[in-house]
Amino acid sequence: MKFKFIKYNFVKRTDEECLKRASDFFELMNKRRSVRSFSPVKFDRKLIELAISAAGTAPSGANKQPWKFIIVESYEIKKEIRIAAEKEEKESYEKRMPQSWLDDLAPLGTDWRKEFLETAPYLIVVFKIDFTKSDSELKKHYYVNESVGIATGILLASLQNTGLATLTHTPSPMNFLQKILNRPSNEKPYLIIPVGYPAEDAVVPDIKRKSLSEILEVT
Ligand SMILES: Cc1cc2nc3c(=O)[nH]c(=O)nc-3n(C[C@H](O)[C@H](O)[C@H](O)COP(=O)(O)O)c2cc1C
Repeated sequence: MKFKFIKYNFVKRTDEECLKRASDFFELMNKRRSVRSFSPVKFDRKLIELAISAAGTAPSGANKQPWKFIIVESYEIKKEIRIAAEKEEKESYEKRMPQSWLDDLAPLGTDWRKEFLETAPYLIVVFKIDFTKSDSELKKHYYVNESVGIATGILLASLQNTGLATLTHTPSPMNFLQKILNRPSNEKPYLIIPVGYPAEDAVVPDIKRKSLSEILEVT
């Protein structure tokens, strides 16, 4: 069988232009912080749809594109998600997490309360798709975690570029999302990303990022 190939349209830039773009992008991304206190102010959903379109350009194992993004804007559903998440998180914080985990979380100031799930104007719930079913045939996807992680990274970068604040939230366990959002059994919840503008009085923990020399080695 013959498969079709098309010419790749590559834009070649000058060295200076490349350096400026790389430096500008780093500056932009270095300003990203996880926000846990959102303004309820709404904005055009198109902004999020465009960011999800960007996420959908991610590379994926064997091009299976094993992701699904659900935008939740209904207040009732956000509330339902908050109640279910807080139930699990209370159990986790009070009974399931070992002390070492709680100690690691202490500088972030988090606890089982998840008000942001209700106040953020939109939640993006990311699902991973491990396989598809057609005519009783099961088709397995490849490198699903890696693929969905890359797509989510592009999503976060795109929302940052748009000028919106985000949080990467993983209530654990989060099977409740499958039920509340009525997803098929082959879609597994991966992350919740509340999106919006930060509350006026939003604060973020004063934590440091590793330096380039700590995260990079050249051989
Ligand atoms: C996979 C993943 C899961 C996370 N889960 C949570 C979470 O459930 N709740 C939360 O408040 N922050 C969560 N975070 C956010 C991290 O705490 C945060 O990224 C980290 O402290 C660094 O802060 P920064 O994002 O402001 O740079 C998560 C981040 C990642 C990448």
